[in-house]
Amino acid sequence: MVQRQMPNPKELAQLMRFKAPTLNPTDRRLDAALTIADLRAIAKRRTPKAPFDYTEGAAEGELSLARARQAFQDVEFHPSILRNVPVVDTSREVLGERSALPFGIAPTGFTRLMQTEGEEAGAGAAGAAGIPFTLSTLGTTSIEGVKAANPNGRNWFQLYVMRQREISYGLVHRAAAAGFDTLFFTVDTPVAGARLRDKRNGFSIPPQLTLGTVINAIPRPAWWINFLTTPPLEFASLSSTGGTVGELLDSAMDPTISFDDLDVIREMWPGKIVVKGVQTVEDAKLLAGRGVDGIVLSNHGGRQLDRAPIPFHLLPDVVREVGDDMEVHLDTGIMNGADIVASIALGARFTLIGRAYLYGLMAGGRRGVDKTISILRTEIQRTMKLLEVSTLDELGPQHVTQLSRLVPVAKTVTDAAELASASKPATVRANRSTGGAAKTGAAKTAAAKSGGAKTTAAKSSAAKRATGTRSAATKSSSAGARTAKQATASTGSGSGSTPATDEQTS
Ligand SMILES: Cc1cc2nc3c(=O)[nH]c(=O)nc-3n(C[C@H](O)[C@H](O)[C@H](O)COP(=O)(O)O)c2cc1C
Repeated sequence: MVQRQMPNPKELAQLMRFKAPTLNPTDRRLDAALTIADLRAIAKRRTPKAPFDYTEGAAEGELSLARARQAFQDVEFHPSILRNVPVVDTSREVLGERSALPFGIAPTGFTRLMQTEGEEAGAGAAGAAGIPFTLSTLGTTSIEGVKAANPNGRNWFQLYVMRQREISYGLVHRAAAAGFDTLFFTVDTPVAGARLRDKRNGFSIPPQLTLGTVINAIPRPAWWINFLTTPPLEFASLSSTGGTVGELLDSAMDPTISFDDLDVIREMWPGKIVVKGVQTVEDAKLLAGRGVDGIVLSNHGGRQLDRAPIPFHLLPDVVREVGDDMEVHLDTGIMNGADIVASIALGARFTLIGRAYLYGLMAGGRRGVDKTISILRTEIQRTMKLLEVSTLDELGPQHVTQLSRLVPVAKTVTDAAELASASKPATVRANRSTGGAAKTGAAKTAAAKSGGAKTTAAKSSAAKRATGTRSAATKSSSAGARTAKQATASTGSGSGSTPATDEQTS
């Protein structure tokens, strides 16, 4: 029988924890956001459809982006235990300086279209958080304006080598003069990707007022008030060139750019240079011998070639091949600090965020970008604590495996041909049932190609490739803790290795 009594006012008072209401509506909205997805939901409510879709959308069927995000969702972490980790250090050495967090803000064009504070909000928030900010060639704040917004922090400049080379060269000199320390040379845009959402929305810059846009604007007055009462939206770095927006865009994409352009820019730029948009191991290897300081494995957030390789899947192989020669960065699909931790664990030196930043910007201007960074920081710290690592350098492939959905059956055309000839149905069935996939042609060839100390990891790598799983094997010639850890993970003998089944492979 439950005993009942009159409520005791003293006990009741202890239970009451009324917080003073947050009066500022932006702060109130942002306080409620716990994840980047929450920021996205706020952004969507507050931004007209055309600019929101321009930001969120990707090319054609948007498969590249969906797959990149899926790859992160398919990460399986393997935590250590009892490692006594009261605090974690999230900082990372990148291109010669320390960043407080292992990510920076990626270059994005037309940023003031998403929210009028645009790049100033991004650069200011990045500077305050101690992380780098990257300004796009197609930015809507000038090089000098970004420097003013982030005077003491690190600013990077992203270059499109345009048809009129002198325009690009002029920007390179301006960025150097303004003290930008790194140049990102984007190479995945020989032509514009087909952004179908923009076509369907009749998207244009500046946005046109049609009956549809007016109706869509009614519940989003703040965006329109901002848009109509602030300086016109234009390409800040390119305005002096005098072309129309369409002409400028067209001239930004040049299908004739080549390695020679890279050499010219390398000569011209006094700081670090990073090639953004690398999508094959072969190209990564070519760049390693060409004097660049880093590469970004990126498919432009899925906005260029649809069905492009998933950068996260490329990562272990690229790190194995060129990780000792230059820094390997990664972007596309990052929506959670855990995605960043997983990337670092598989060998990325650094990562970049595009939409995660823009969702914050659209949700609340500068404070929204601060919130994006704070959400990712919290997620990184929490994931590190749960994995029981105190520094990012302690992360390794033993902490990460991937569920095998979306993993390529063969990685290269050559592998595919070898697989096709080697895997007659009966053989494949026999191999699968005995776990003997290492006997397939692809595995043999890969193992044969790799010599000496590489053999164990390569065999395992090829075996996993043949069965549709990925490897985190490293170039074992580069001795050291990372190599040992990666080889352990790749051979599946470490505590962190989880075999995946063929049946799940797409
Ligand atoms: C709206 C938008 C504009 C972009 N503009 C540029 C650009 O001007 N130059 C560039 O190199 N990359 C550009 N990107 C690609 C980003 O730098 C980055 O590679 C991509 O956003 C990463 O994927 P994520 O959005 O999933 O984080 C843009 C991306 C978005 C979403």
